[in-house]
Amino acid sequence: KNHKNSNQGAAATGQKRPRNEFGNKVTVVLGAQWGDEGKGKVVDLLATEADFVCRCQGGNNAGHTVVVDGKEYDFHLLPSGIINPKSISLIGNGVVIHLPGLFEEGDKNDKKGLKGWDKRLIVSDRAHIVFDFHQIVDGLQESERQAQEGKNIGTTKKGIGPAYSSKASRTGLRVCDLLGDFKDFSTRFKNLVRQYQSMYPSLEVDVEDQLKQLKEYAERLRPMVRDGVYYMYEALHGPPKKILVEGANAALLDIDFGTYPFVTSSNCTVGGVCTGLGIPPLNIGDVFGVSKAYTTRVGIGAFPTEQLNAVGELLQTRGHEVGVTTGRKRRCGWLDLVIVRYAHMINGFTAIALTKLDILDVLDEIKVGIAYKLNGKRIPHFPANMDVLHKVEVEYETFPGWKTDTSAARKWNDLPSKAQNYIRFIENHIGVPIKWVGVGKSRECMIQMF
Ligand code: GDP
Ligand code: IMO
Ligand code: MG
Repeated sequence: KNHKNSNQGAAATGQKRPRNEFGNKVTVVLGAQWGDEGKGKVVDLLATEADFVCRCQGGNNAGHTVVVDGKEYDFHLLPSGIINPKSISLIGNGVVIHLPGLFEEGDKNDKKGLKGWDKRLIVSDRAHIVFDFHQIVDGLQESERQAQEGKNIGTTKKGIGPAYSSKASRTGLRVCDLLGDFKDFSTRFKNLVRQYQSMYPSLEVDVEDQLKQLKEYAERLRPMVRDGVYYMYEALHGPPKKILVEGANAALLDIDFGTYPFVTSSNCTVGGVCTGLGIPPLNIGDVFGVSKAYTTRVGIGAFPTEQLNAVGELLQTRGHEVGVTTGRKRRCGWLDLVIVRYAHMINGFTAIALTKLDILDVLDEIKVGIAYKLNGKRIPHFPANMDVLHKVEVEYETFPGWKTDTSAARKWNDLPSKAQNYIRFIENHIGVPIKWVGVGKSRECMIQMF
């Protein structure tokens, strides 16, 4: 009896799931490129039926857009499922939380009409806290990189790197510490500030003011906090539930597998789901990879298929490729299937969502990167070393453009045959079925293939 696969796909297809001795399965949505692939939109699509939507890593460096009934929402720390009044949103232990950021985001959405978000949000007591000084240090580190190496990473300055550094160096403070004995918390907070001040003498922190604010946040947060591991255990082992995990950032920004050092500081690949929520691998069901029909990247770092020409500019303007969190223009280029295949090696996608096909509608010809060459020879792997990645020559496959507006297409047969060929090529080359094709921003602009 194959226990492991007996449940796969159930969450997505909406079938009744057999009760399984290993419990419910979670459906995972992960970025397969350098971020901003449209994860928020895919999660929103699945969240209409979900009982739980969880974030497992990253922080408010993420920016996930959801468009419903003409209203645009951008989520940073809140799981995109917070839009669904019937589902519970959970921020897992692997996430780093900037409390002012969390409440600002909640209040902003409240004003937009998203009422009661705080009643539907659960926060793991093991999640680490991003302090204001972590964000200042993020900025100082960027200036230091600029001065020392002539280039920075182009971080979102949300304090992500410094907060995960505190976690790894075992001086970080967690939600459970904030809600515990406040005197103890204050002492450890002061020690942490001092540690950073010894590294960055220009760092000024009004400790008393910070502690006063933190104490207020603690009380607002308290009703939402649970033991995340036990909470997930109950969700997995109670009656059948649809549980969704919303990845933040993306495979090529993963601290281990991304284009290091131009990466973020968490595991944005499938392993981060287990460690960031405290759930066993047996409970992972479908893993959906999200990829645009082309490639973008925010910030610095190698980008082999980047188009520093009219094509890149067209993708940038037509695709409104501007960072949700930082407002920076995103760099643009052809779809790079080497990186999507690499993301698949790590994540084992069960299906792909291909977004923003509509942006390619006006192009005469469309290219897809299918292999990297070094000294004229194809290489089978994705290079770890950035100097090597900067040197690769990309081998392209060229397709004729369909020159037709696809934004009104709602099913496969509505797509021009040249677009269908493009999609089928991608599917065959990655070796993973494409389940959705995105042709516009809003909820209904998603063609479901099976
Ligand atoms: P995320 O970080 O992966 O959730 O993606 P972002 O929200 O940062 O960026 C994706 C952008 O593309 C958002 O502005 C979405 O509204 C938009 N988008 C998503 N899917 C599509 C699509 O199929 N077509 C078009 N035109 N826009 C899309
Ligand atoms: P979503 O979830 C795009 C990039 C930053 C920078 C690098 C490190 O919306 O796809 P950090 O602030 O994390 O230390 O920055 O990672 N980056 C993202 N780029 N989308 C994201 O998230 C990103 N999260 C981080 O631009 O290059
Ligand atoms: Mg984004």
